[in-house]
Amino acid sequence: MASGSVDFILTDPPYLCRYKSRSGQTIANDDRDGWLEPAFAEMYQLLKPDSFCVSFYGWNAADKFIAAWRKAGFQMVGHIVFRKSYASASRFLESRHEQAYLLAKGRPALPASPLPDVMDWHYTGNRLHPTQKSINNLRPLIHAFCREGGIVLDPFCGSGSTLVAARGAGRVGIGIELDERHQATAAFRVNTLGVAA
Ligand SMILES: C[S@@+](CC[C@H](N)C(=O)[O-])C[C@H]1O[C@@H](n2cnc3c(N)ncnc32)[C@H](O)[C@@H]1O
Repeated sequence: MASGSVDFILTDPPYLCRYKSRSGQTIANDDRDGWLEPAFAEMYQLLKPDSFCVSFYGWNAADKFIAAWRKAGFQMVGHIVFRKSYASASRFLESRHEQAYLLAKGRPALPASPLPDVMDWHYTGNRLHPTQKSINNLRPLIHAFCREGGIVLDPFCGSGSTLVAARGAGRVGIGIELDERHQATAAFRVNTLGVAA
């Protein structure tokens, strides 16, 4: 891909938490961090000047994510908390939120009406991917941070939720996925949009 060719990056990379679902499913590269710095360096390169990246991340590896974003050249300009109505895990605390940083390359213009930085979490049931994000959570981010008709990149696209949300919002979605099963799910969802979204 050409440098400076992408309008917005919306991504949900492995959280570096050795995730295992109740049925034993794991996420590729969730147990190692060697990919983190090179991946965000590439993302920075691909973004147009003065544009945004929203990245979900694992709170227990926040230091590693922040170091990689800073090293790539991103500025952290916002933080979003998605509030869950249920606990997805329970240990010292009940896990009742997901989180993402709003990262800027350069100095993008301020939005006319900023999104709130606390939003309700929509649970997907994880039927298409063990950590499937909801289109209802992704769509407002695409509307806010990508121009109409613009290109949205998700280099860790899993089952293709970002691509479906981008297409539904009148943007062009480009996805990259390592795991062939998830790649097939993403391709199926995009190719049958309106039927299987
Ligand atoms: C947290 S999941 C994304 C789930 C997605 N948001 C969804 O709604 O389905 C992260 C994905 O990154 C993929 N992945 C891990 N390492 C990768 C790499 N080097 N290149 C591309 N994809 C990778 C994993 O296979 C996994 O599907």
